[in-house]
Amino acid sequence: MSQPSLPRVGFIGAGRLARCLARGFARAGYPVAAIASRTAATAHDLAGEFAGCVSSGDPQTVVEAADIVFLTVPDDSIGTTANTLRFSASSSTSRSAWGLVHCSGASPVELLEPARAQGVAIGGFHPLYLFSGAPADIERIVGCSVTIEADGALHEALAAMTSALGCHPLSIPGGGRMLYHAAAHYAASFALCGLAECVALWRTLGFAEDDALRAVLPMLAGTIETARDRGLSGALAGPISRGDTGVVQKQLTLLETLGGDHAALYALMSRRGIELARRRPSPPAGIDTIAEAVENSLARSVNQVSAGASVK
Ligand SMILES: NC(=O)c1ccc[n+]([C@@H]2O[C@H](COP(=O)([O-])OP(=O)(O)OC[C@H]3O[C@@H](n4cnc5c(N)ncnc54)[C@H](OP(=O)(O)O)[C@@H]3O)[C@@H](O)[C@H]2O)c1
Repeated sequence: MSQPSLPRVGFIGAGRLARCLARGFARAGYPVAAIASRTAATAHDLAGEFAGCVSSGDPQTVVEAADIVFLTVPDDSIGTTANTLRFSASSSTSRSAWGLVHCSGASPVELLEPARAQGVAIGGFHPLYLFSGAPADIERIVGCSVTIEADGALHEALAAMTSALGCHPLSIPGGGRMLYHAAAHYAASFALCGLAECVALWRTLGFAEDDALRAVLPMLAGTIETARDRGLSGALAGPISRGDTGVVQKQLTLLETLGGDHAALYALMSRRGIELARRRPSPPAGIDTIAEAVENSLARSVNQVSAGASVK
């Protein structure tokens, strides 16, 4: 029996995410048929990587050349762009796309409703990965999850494309998109924000950012591996996990002297650390004293939070 041919894919928006998906799909054998972007030259550069791929500054070109269109523009432009697209009824001669997908984790799929009203299947395809736009993204995305929201044939096609990228399909309950996306920040951008706080504090000791990152990134990589092996509670290390009350108290006091929100940030993260420590089969002996110190520090520094960070 002959294999059904893979759908032709197209992209509107040739940014960081589109570069990885287009390269990944092409490598898996999906024809990348068309790429459009606000700046025609951006689309042209990316399209040049794929045989037979057309490029344009006009999104409609993609609708007419692809079977499944990925709307990979910034979130604020998804609805307005979707509203401009015109899909022709399918027929043996029609080249109009039958599926329209956006890749935002936070925006509702309903933004694509104007396409659904024209008989097109709509969906969401959100890779849980922080794209840089560099070629290395294609290798690094392997093993990640992609949250798919679609029905019927489009769901099947997107699930197959997820596997083709070496990723795992994930589903979330209806209406859960915004909370899901807000929470996911802690595993990507907010992890960077934690590193930025470390770098800012180390800068007061004379470290440049590069030197600080060279020192702490291997520790972060090791922490991730340990979390994979032992779970969050089992992987927790540092003074909270040991019940070292004196260290936590002294660090809170020191950070309070720096002003700004440094102590408050440390205290709020410590709250989560205390929760993890309490989940252990044998929580550390000093955990209640640590919790009290953290809450007292938070009460003292609450007025300073609005001042923002003082160490840059
Ligand atoms: N980056 C990530 O880590 C990541 C992760 C998961 C999901 N996403 C989602 O993926 C989508 C794209 O994000 P991104 O990070 O790839 O954005 P990006 O790097 O900023 O790229 C957006 C691209 O769209 C083009 N563009 C902007 N407005 C447009 C319009 N009205 N019509 C056509 N093209 C337009 C841009 O302009 P030029 O043509 O001028 O370059 C650019 O090439 C977003 O929905 C985002 O939430 C991103």
